[in-house]
Amino acid sequence: QNLLLIDTDPGVDDALALLMAYQHAAVVGLSIAAGNVGLAHTVTNALRLVELVGAETPVFAGCDTPLVLPAADAAFVHGVDGFGDAGLPLPERKAEAEHAALALIRLTQEQPGELTLVALGPLTNLALALRLDPTLPQRVPRLVVMGGAVTGRGNTSVPAEFNIGFDPESAHIVFSTWPQFELVDWEATMRHGIALQRFESWLAADDDRARCYERISQKIRGFMQERRRPGLVLADALAMAVALQPDCVIRAEHRHVAVELNGSLTRGATIVDWDGRNGLPANARIVLEVDQQRFEAMIVAALGAA
Ligand code: BDR
Ligand code: CA
Repeated sequence: QNLLLIDTDPGVDDALALLMAYQHAAVVGLSIAAGNVGLAHTVTNALRLVELVGAETPVFAGCDTPLVLPAADAAFVHGVDGFGDAGLPLPERKAEAEHAALALIRLTQEQPGELTLVALGPLTNLALALRLDPTLPQRVPRLVVMGGAVTGRGNTSVPAEFNIGFDPESAHIVFSTWPQFELVDWEATMRHGIALQRFESWLAADDDRARCYERISQKIRGFMQERRRPGLVLADALAMAVALQPDCVIRAEHRHVAVELNGSLTRGATIVDWDGRNGLPANARIVLEVDQQRFEAMIVAALGAA
């Protein structure tokens, strides 16, 4: 069975990715970052999700700021509480005492070679874990990252995507030390929008997961309509689809990807060496296209709408 360790900042699209993970795999731990909203909210939301699906997964709180510079959250998209300000009850469960970065190290030591690591938020916890234990990648056969904008069309500044733009130094640490990872970027997300009506028909399913997602996604659905996005774009769900079913990837290219740390206009941009100019080996498999039907089928099942 596919065993997942998920680093995430829930977040409305993170929540859908988590529902997909619970439907299609086993989740051994959730390490939580600040990002979409502050850490107290992202931890609470992760605990809510674990309760919703009736799981026992340990939740580990991680870093509450980026490694170096402060950054703005995305509450205007995800709501002040990160779950669309839907007024969900507080969870009864609590987070573990262990820090998320230490949990990433320990859990991969306990199951070396077994876990797929899926990173759905800013890479702060993972960067810290890598600095504490540079041998971490040797124990993790797959790292799937949602992040970046591979041809320079970002969503948080002109060229930067949110997860990388929120904490560029952490992304730099991960991208420059992890030998091979899979990257699902914002531009791929934009090519895999889901028609709003279609998505809303799934939300009408007679299932607690659909009912919960209907509530927490109301705000983001309105936001996407205002911005005339190509349907509902769900970045973390797409990354999770790749993690869950690697063979749903139709097109991908191996390239070297680096993170810009300094540019006054380009801080947080992902610089892809499309033409092999820098002579560095490819560190990323950039996902360009996924089987849309399979992607949607994974979501339908995760919402109980099948
Ligand atoms: C990414 O940023 C967050 O707002 C989403 O949860 C996703 O991880 C998309 O750029
Ligand atoms: Ca996220």
